[in-house]
Amino acid sequence: MAIKYVEKKGRVFVPTKKARELSLAGQDVYKKAAANRVKFWEELAREGIDWIEPWHTAYEQKGLKFGWFKGGKLNLCYNAVDRHLDRPDKTAIVFVPEDPQEQVLRVSYFELFKQVNKAAALLKQKGVKKGDVVAVYMPMIPEALVFMLACARIGAIHSVVFSAFSPDALRTRIKDGGAKVLITTNYYYRKGKKINLLKQANKACRFIKIKKLIVDRKKVGKTFEKMHDVIVKPESMESEDTAFLLYTSGTTGKPKGVMHAVGGYTTQAYWSCRYVFNLQENETMWCTADVGWITGHTYACYGPLLNGATTVIYEGLPNYPKPDRYLKIIEKEEVNVFYTAPTALRMFALAGTEYTRKYKMDSLKILGSVGEPIDEATWMWFYKNIGKNRCPVIDTYWQTETGSAVIMSLPGIGPFIPTYAAIPFPGMDFDVINEKGKKVPAGKEGLLIQRPPFSPSLIRGVWKNEKRYKNYFDKNGDYTAGDGAIKNAKGWFRILGRSDDIIKVAGHRMSTAEIEDAIASLRGVVEAVIVGREDKLRGMVPVAFVKAKAGLSEEDVIARVVKRIGPIAKPAEVYFVEDIPKTRSGKMMRRILKTLLAGEDVKNVSTLINPGSVKAIGEMIKDRAKRKARCGEDWEMILEREKSNGKEK
Ligand code: PRX
Repeated sequence: MAIKYVEKKGRVFVPTKKARELSLAGQDVYKKAAANRVKFWEELAREGIDWIEPWHTAYEQKGLKFGWFKGGKLNLCYNAVDRHLDRPDKTAIVFVPEDPQEQVLRVSYFELFKQVNKAAALLKQKGVKKGDVVAVYMPMIPEALVFMLACARIGAIHSVVFSAFSPDALRTRIKDGGAKVLITTNYYYRKGKKINLLKQANKACRFIKIKKLIVDRKKVGKTFEKMHDVIVKPESMESEDTAFLLYTSGTTGKPKGVMHAVGGYTTQAYWSCRYVFNLQENETMWCTADVGWITGHTYACYGPLLNGATTVIYEGLPNYPKPDRYLKIIEKEEVNVFYTAPTALRMFALAGTEYTRKYKMDSLKILGSVGEPIDEATWMWFYKNIGKNRCPVIDTYWQTETGSAVIMSLPGIGPFIPTYAAIPFPGMDFDVINEKGKKVPAGKEGLLIQRPPFSPSLIRGVWKNEKRYKNYFDKNGDYTAGDGAIKNAKGWFRILGRSDDIIKVAGHRMSTAEIEDAIASLRGVVEAVIVGREDKLRGMVPVAFVKAKAGLSEEDVIARVVKRIGPIAKPAEVYFVEDIPKTRSGKMMRRILKTLLAGEDVKNVSTLINPGSVKAIGEMIKDRAKRKARCGEDWEMILEREKSNGKEK
């Protein structure tokens, strides 16, 4: 009989006795951490991480600049790979190719060690030194992780760019980071098709001085076979040295390079993986996120490897070639922790529940959700159909900037409440404030902030842009997350979504300004505004309002966005409008457009210079709504069916 880790208690779910017994986090962990947060992290850092030299100052803050474990020296790669060599045959990475006929690859820790060393030697041959930036534009194949680890080994700063970003987007990131080398792949598979990544990479690098390292997808797992074994000594890194850069969207058109520090990141990635997923050495974790995003960095690569566990990486779409592909992978690889995004879950649910019944999923113990708010129906679907009413759903809230998960319920402590991310990780202090910086009463909506001492893996800087780093902090000196939230009387947090102009499209973080800039670059466009509209499948989708001279089509607009950013940023709808609603001071009224998209009427238009535009746009939207997207209808049908199934039982 599979173990039951969770049970229902009133309206919430709590860990069973067994889950409490298995918990790696003690039941008193919050109390212990709250007593002295810095001391708590010091103890964790000492216990979980191998240091070359101990630190002299655990936490230091001067103005907005803060740091952890000053004086301490360590190497991230050593902690993720070398220190597990006492169990050399243990599988570190399981690579599942998209084509079910292609063989699954298993990379042991010893094999990983050898490959990482060879990759490090290759980077050195290319002249890469400590502190240099290396761009990584790769699909989900083991070599992506190998090169990331190799960078960490020699103290180079990797900047991974999601492989579905366009050449233009890659180029912007390469240029801003000043990358010396680009590591890429000739092709990979997606939905059964060969995607020529090298062509994209070549386009991105036109007229840029950059060296390239190209991995042949055909030889996946054998890239380093012909090289002689070498040992490259792990670089002794200062705790506050930069571990890596990861570009993410901000509120301006230009993406920002979020910087993470070695000591704090290593410590928090290790411990969050251990406590949030109760991950043990003999276990397997499958985080479905691509390494191009922070989730892939921390929970597909570093977190499981730091813990000496096995990480599953999968090349393709989780429902390819059939909806049950992901279930097959979980069963076959005996996955213990399955971590994915609400969008993926909504997609899985679209295929119904019949197919899920064929799979027992006995190996699973923890389910995780990340990237966007998870609605109650999706939470319950996950819990029932994948977790078989046995496993907790851990809704983890965090960001590229926080580096690791920061708000969630711990599996052996709970509670698990649909729509609540719940409780800050031990040793962290979050709160909800209003625009004036004052704490809001329990149960009231406000802005999410983190108070110092800041969590160890929190952002340390924005690459070459001090001003943008400073913008993260409010006048009280607290870190502002950019999310709306509610904290209830029990101290549980519910995340409401972005409070700025960033939108999460299928869990992917997009800047409305970046999409607007892309559209505005089209000849004939006078102005363009992007607003997010709720979408039953993807959470949010961008919708474009474009004022343009005649002759432009919806396809032109979409093609430009795909070219500048990538298909993930495609507007779901494009409205060519005569005028964009504006205030007298010229401010574009996104709020009004959002209201219209939600199908609601706008009451007060007196402050606008062009009130007539509102009516016209409203009519266009209503007209289009009549031709409702088919997938929306399917989703509603499934929800209805689920509801009636529930009643029958
Ligand atoms: O709006 C929040 C949302 O994702 C944003 C961060 O996006 P990114 O930097 O791409 O990192 C995503 C993965 C860590 C947040 O500001 N978000 C993330 N997790 C949740 C969430 N919103 C609600 N609930 C979550 N669990």
